[in-house]
Amino acid sequence: MCRGTVGRVPDDAWASARLASLFVDGAYESVKGYVRTYVLHHHLLEHLPAPPAKVLDVGGGAGHQSFPLAQAGYEVTILDPSAAMLARARQRLDRLSVEARERVTFVQARGEDADRAVEGDRFAAVLCHGVLGYVEDPDLLVAQLCRCAEEGGIVSIMTGNAHAAAVQPALERRWADARASFDARAGIGVLGVRSRADTVEDVSAMIARYEVEPEHWYGTWLFVDWLEFGGTELDRHDADEVEAIASVELEASRRDPYRHMSRAFHLIGRKRSSSQARAGSIPAPQRREQRSATG
Ligand SMILES: C[S@@+](CC[C@H](N)C(=O)[O-])C[C@H]1O[C@@H](n2cnc3c(N)ncnc32)[C@H](O)[C@@H]1O
Repeated sequence: MCRGTVGRVPDDAWASARLASLFVDGAYESVKGYVRTYVLHHHLLEHLPAPPAKVLDVGGGAGHQSFPLAQAGYEVTILDPSAAMLARARQRLDRLSVEARERVTFVQARGEDADRAVEGDRFAAVLCHGVLGYVEDPDLLVAQLCRCAEEGGIVSIMTGNAHAAAVQPALERRWADARASFDARAGIGVLGVRSRADTVEDVSAMIARYEVEPEHWYGTWLFVDWLEFGGTELDRHDADEVEAIASVELEASRRDPYRHMSRAFHLIGRKRSSSQARAGSIPAPQRREQRSATG
């Protein structure tokens, strides 16, 4: 299903820079791409209600993160300003069962216009993975993510980890860049475009301003990065090794100190109910969780 185009959709950087192809055919076809989907999917299942429930994937691109949820029974809306990325998502629909395809809707819009684009609809989960670092004003986008979550629903943000910015240049033996990266928030990422990294602390504070309490945070991938940047090629077609790697990465993403070293982090927050928002507090069990989210 397609809800059409909403708001001002800017020039399609993800098409003109051929980023769509680099990302979909390059990054996601690698072992790292497989790990990204595997790990984030497992994190999400720990926080989502059982299907059916509605999921909004903001900057959802070609659907790598939300198609597995449609297959698992969730009603998925992919919102993205890029016609090229949405076209790739439509091409990939045939990987889903016929019933799962029926559960996917497309909206062409910027995340900053999300509430208007989904006509005020509210979702059990709002995902925003690998997008925040590319927008000029993250606060505008985060406000919209939080607004689109229903009371008790989750907001799931995956973005670059500023605390681990030296990892890539150091492993590539670009020592001057590595030295400079300790205090830098922006740099050229693996797709060759400029992006900004953030911290768990800053994004947690941002979502908390919009009635979403940080619940837990994870790393994403770790060892596959180190191997790739160090020059080791991993074989995407070696199913046994890929499964073994994914399981190790999932465990590392959940634990200290590994999650702190991951180049990207995955933060999950939960929208307060209106009574909690009025009282200005959240119940004790969630407060306990929140401590582990930021600890
Ligand atoms: C790195 S891709 C991530 C795609 C998907 N979330 C994933 O993890 O596979 C970044 C996506 O963000 C989208 N994007 C760029 N600017 C955006 C904005 N202002 N609002 C929403 N999405 C945006 C791009 O079109 C692209 O699809």
